[in-house]
Amino acid sequence: MIKEFKEKYLKKVPIVMLTAYDASMAQMINDVAIDGILVGDSLRHTFFGDSTTVTMTLQDMVYHTKAVKNGAPKSFIVSDMPFMTYNVSPEKTLENAATLVQAGAHAVKCEVRPTNIPTIARLVQEGIPVMAHIGLQPQYIHEIGGYHLKGTSKSEKNELCELAKSLANIGVFAIVLEKVSIELSKTITSLVDCPTIGIGAGPSCSGQILVTNDLLGLTPNFSPKFVKQYLNGHSLIKDALAAFKNDVETGQFPTNDHAYADETVQ
Ligand code: KIV
Repeated sequence: MIKEFKEKYLKKVPIVMLTAYDASMAQMINDVAIDGILVGDSLRHTFFGDSTTVTMTLQDMVYHTKAVKNGAPKSFIVSDMPFMTYNVSPEKTLENAATLVQAGAHAVKCEVRPTNIPTIARLVQEGIPVMAHIGLQPQYIHEIGGYHLKGTSKSEKNELCELAKSLANIGVFAIVLEKVSIELSKTITSLVDCPTIGIGAGPSCSGQILVTNDLLGLTPNFSPKFVKQYLNGHSLIKDALAAFKNDVETGQFPTNDHAYADETVQ
């Protein structure tokens, strides 16, 4: 929960987060005591096969948040607010965030721009914990034009440092730093008094998050530098599927071991 999250930060113990979109993955993540589960809008790529996260809807996020909550009712759950659901009026933003909390999230994540700060501050004031997401912000892919490293110019570095400080000042409980340099993430982490959670941001952040499908190797031909692949899931699962096909075709499945004898009562 958020309290443990804060305690780990204060004790300088790395915080570990992973994404989940369904109950079975959420349960496995809960079983290994990961600190928090993100119901990320990355599900638009990994689960739905879209090329961007821009198409994510609040309704779909509610559906996946409920599934994750069912699989891991005791885990700390953060749900992504979809594109343009927090760039609306503060009242509408509150309503949208509350919808995710009522679906089972303990907190929401927003890809914050400086113009969103007052609205995000309102969420925090009204008691909805917010995780900010800065650096590479995939929801703005049409504006940025590619998934490049962020903060590569002096002015962009300064902007990111100022944004992180403003976010810490309004009370976000953590800041995701996506795809910024090792040096910049170290600087930002030293400037703020809340945890930074890195993805493609090097080892100096207060914690780390990866998209679970990436670390399990479930997405073929996708292995960016920042992902450490712990399993060749795509190939292993395909082997299992092919083995099932072969067993059925050759009469090796089902045998009587996987079937029921007649139990008719006279
Ligand atoms: O949607 C997502 O999974 C994310 C992580 C990459 C941080 O935002």
